[in-house]
Amino acid sequence: MSRIALVTGGSRGIGAAISKALKDAGYTVAATYAGNDEKAAAFTAETGIKTYKWNVADYDECAAGIAKVEADLGPIDVLVNNAGITRDAPFHKMTREQWQEVMDTNLSGLFNMTHPIWPGMRERKFGRIISISSINGQKGQFGQANYSAAKAGDLGFTKALAQEGARAGITVNAICPGYIATEMVMAVPEKVRESIIGQIPVGRLGEAEEIARCVVFLASDEAGFITGSTITANGGQYFV
Ligand code: CAA
Repeated sequence: MSRIALVTGGSRGIGAAISKALKDAGYTVAATYAGNDEKAAAFTAETGIKTYKWNVADYDECAAGIAKVEADLGPIDVLVNNAGITRDAPFHKMTREQWQEVMDTNLSGLFNMTHPIWPGMRERKFGRIISISSINGQKGQFGQANYSAAKAGDLGFTKALAQEGARAGITVNAICPGYIATEMVMAVPEKVRESIIGQIPVGRLGEAEEIARCVVFLASDEAGFITGSTITANGGQYFV
């Protein structure tokens, strides 16, 4: 029986690469998406990976959605908290809504997704929680007080939960991607993006597949001694 993996925001960008890489590694994969029905349907048609629509910012939707995935596929062994949004603005222009939306999705989303899955992993004495944080949670970023705060919070969540999961065979880790060639990064104004690429020692944006390979490793049995860790994958832009 193959292990079951659930990837939030798993039909686009880094999440799509993660879903595909886990499938290629032999997992049965389910992917969630928030809004884009057309892209999700195309992703399922292309990959055969089932997609489920719900908002990770809503606890009840997460609990109901997870129950549905588990009824369809079986208990979830690997959770990849990948779904994330940006609402960039310099702080003096940032609205309460921009702050709250990012906190609800990028930070509370981890609670909402992990909390319903956690008891089953504890009972079965196996689990992998892998959360996609960001370089900007490590170093901060102009225009991202909301995003940087949430992504830094993801790292605190990871380190605390790793301690609770250790005796139950559950590892909890994070990955901090740098700037990856996805729609999210392409939405940054071109001049700003060019200046960011200039700060990346390898001289290019990362590929989503480069993050997906880190996830496959952390999900594996071979990574069982690694917990509470952060893999930094940013082309040398920032050293922790
Ligand atoms: N450091 C210092 N000053 C900066 C700056 C920086 N990094 N970036 C912009 N500024 C300055 C500009 O030079 C400009 O100054 P002047 O007014 O003196 O000319 C000023 O800030 C721009 O202010 P505006 O009021 O015009 O700002 P704006 O409302 O146009 O918003 C912004 C600007 C939305 C923050 C825009 O700069 C931006 O999108 N920046 C990119 C933020 C970013 O990196 N986001 C990452 C998205 S990808 C992602 O998040 C994935 C991941 O995990 C890596």
